Amino acid sequence: MKEEKLRELLGKMSLKEKAGQMFQASGSLYDENSVLTGPMKESGFTEENLELAGSVIGVQDAAAMRKLQERYIRQHPHGIPLLFMMDVINGYRTIFPIPLGQGASFAPDLTRRCAEAAAREASASGIHVTFAPMADLVRDARWGRVMESTGEDPFLNGLFCQAMVRGFQGDHVGESGRLAACVKHFAAYGAPVAGRDYNTVELSEHTLREYYLPAYKKGVEAGAEMVMTSFNTVNGIPATGNEYLMRQILRGEFGFDGVLISDWTAIEELIAHGYCEDRKDAAYRAMRAGVDIDMMSGIYPEWLCRLVESGAVSMEAVDQAVWRILCLKNRLGLFENPYKDAGETAEKKLFLCSEHRALAREAAARSFVLLKNDGVLPLCPETRVAWIGPYTDTRDLTGSWSFTGDKSAVSTIREILPEYTAHTEGCPGCPMLDPEKDLRTLTEKQMEFPSLAERERMMREAESCAKKAETVVLFLGEHPMQSGEASSRTKPVVPKIQMELFRRVSRVNSNLVVVIFSGRPLEIREISEKAKAVLVVWLPGTEGARAILETLMGERTPEGKLSMSFPWDTGQIPVYYNEDPTGRPDLEEKKEDRFRSRYLDAPNGALYPFGFGLTYTRFRVSPVQLDSSVLYPGETLKASVILENTGSRQGTETLQLYIRDVSASVVRPVKELRDFRKVTLLPGESREVTFEIREEQLRFWRADGTFGSEKGRFQVFIGQDSSVREFENFELL
Ligand code: NOJ
Repeated sequence: MKEEKLRELLGKMSLKEKAGQMFQASGSLYDENSVLTGPMKESGFTEENLELAGSVIGVQDAAAMRKLQERYIRQHPHGIPLLFMMDVINGYRTIFPIPLGQGASFAPDLTRRCAEAAAREASASGIHVTFAPMADLVRDARWGRVMESTGEDPFLNGLFCQAMVRGFQGDHVGESGRLAACVKHFAAYGAPVAGRDYNTVELSEHTLREYYLPAYKKGVEAGAEMVMTSFNTVNGIPATGNEYLMRQILRGEFGFDGVLISDWTAIEELIAHGYCEDRKDAAYRAMRAGVDIDMMSGIYPEWLCRLVESGAVSMEAVDQAVWRILCLKNRLGLFENPYKDAGETAEKKLFLCSEHRALAREAAARSFVLLKNDGVLPLCPETRVAWIGPYTDTRDLTGSWSFTGDKSAVSTIREILPEYTAHTEGCPGCPMLDPEKDLRTLTEKQMEFPSLAERERMMREAESCAKKAETVVLFLGEHPMQSGEASSRTKPVVPKIQMELFRRVSRVNSNLVVVIFSGRPLEIREISEKAKAVLVVWLPGTEGARAILETLMGERTPEGKLSMSFPWDTGQIPVYYNEDPTGRPDLEEKKEDRFRSRYLDAPNGALYPFGFGLTYTRFRVSPVQLDSSVLYPGETLKASVILENTGSRQGTETLQLYIRDVSASVVRPVKELRDFRKVTLLPGESREVTFEIREEQLRFWRADGTFGSEKGRFQVFIGQDSSVREFENFELL
């Protein structure tokens, strides 16, 4: 529709109709087959609310979408189509690895391709907007939603956020097979105190600006059509009513002019936060902050008209919000074709098509991180292996945001074993969880536990199976429902009953490979000490089982690197690589000195730090060479190393460039990732790898509250993970 006509349309709309556009209802209020992704309100919405709502969340198939859209347009006074939104996080019908796994691939371009495939499938089902990417930086593994983040590093997160926005949206959201992206959760949702979901966020301006905001900004710069507010407070003010965050930073500094939506009932929650007196006040505050769409609290349709009539909210503010929403509908082409790509034929053609499945397998395999390997992996096909553990027999490999996926399309490890080896003996060994309350209410309602006697029988079976085998592969990990929204854990560890299985099996067979499934970094020290090899496979998605077996058998080689540190002990959490130096660092040469920044009972560092991951070969990295010891703004400094494959197989190393600003107006971290490069080498092959360093990479949030670099000395590290120690110096002039 031409802009002029759209303006005309806005001009014709009544205030009530405008307020309707600013309300998003759950699809389940129209159609009971829709998914529910948040708590349903007890008090219902009015018929009128639903007739005028501008968008819906949760409708998930083309036929239902078309039916609802058709009915809706027919009754709407101006025939304005609905926007259909949904959480398409790591895939739609074909499920890719969880975002934390994708982060570990260090391959944003692969993630862009996954987002493209997800967009093709979802748009065929009539979805227009996805609530992704989640750009929240995460440091606290207790928080269940770390699985939805790409990790602890702002630079890496920024690249992934950008890649997802580009993958979902392409060049233009109106194109067939594209979705509008919604960057979330603005801001700093990833830093809840003590890792408890929805909890308070306390961040200094410095930490917020330096670490937490950059990835959202990258998403906005990549052209994300929407942004979602977060549930949390930031320094005492809930984000959804936070004018400083939304107006000054998001709209002002980042220049975001797309649609800002609240998270599910977040406007109403301003009352529970103790920030607003009542629903009227909450509507007022959210409007002040510039929230365009109220997701599911019904406060906008209830209060906006009255607030405008009383003069508390201006008509202009409402018009601006509605204009943004109408523009998005227009860019999606909905006034011409309100169904966009929705069609059952397209669904049939695209869902789980071979191209998407192949991509899912590649993405899964490249997300795996090999943490330890004492030469047992890859397995040889002749080895008599026992395949044990609760993850051998489950299709639950897709993670908590995969409700649109098709579990029946997921193979279990056990089902496909015969395709990879003649030795297929094994058993589950134990249930996934203890009968105790690992999942609180969920366990009681949805799970049945074997009796004590049956559990003992399962363990014995596993022991006897392990005894007879040359090698045991144990598939362990968190239950898929232990990560995701509202799934915080005080102790991110492997469930107790599985640890018992691990101990009993390791007593009878020390040739042990452990494959760990998880939505977050876990404390796995004991496993890592006793097992000969440890492979982390996250929640790997539809093609997870095949990707795992292909990796274990050596048809694929692991290349992932942790994008979030694995703690040595849960008591270290939050533990992350890019911490600030202290005045009393824990130095090797000061080991005897008591008054140092350290624990009495644990090292300071992670068990496996950010950037860590092995391959099936070995690499050697030469000392860093700089082509100059000075860098002038506007010029480039070259930092090189020679990478050599000293092992006996081909492999891909991810070389990482870290920089430290030695002294500055604000303390700078001990190391910051500034670039990385994947290099594939044959055995014995070596290659010079050169990174370019420019002044822009040295900028930070300075003491005076501006971004920029400061002259002085910098250290350059190039290595295989963030623990690299050797560096070279240069001076920024
Ligand atoms: C709440 C979650 O925080 C958010 O990420 C999600 O997009 C909405 N629910 C809608 O499902």
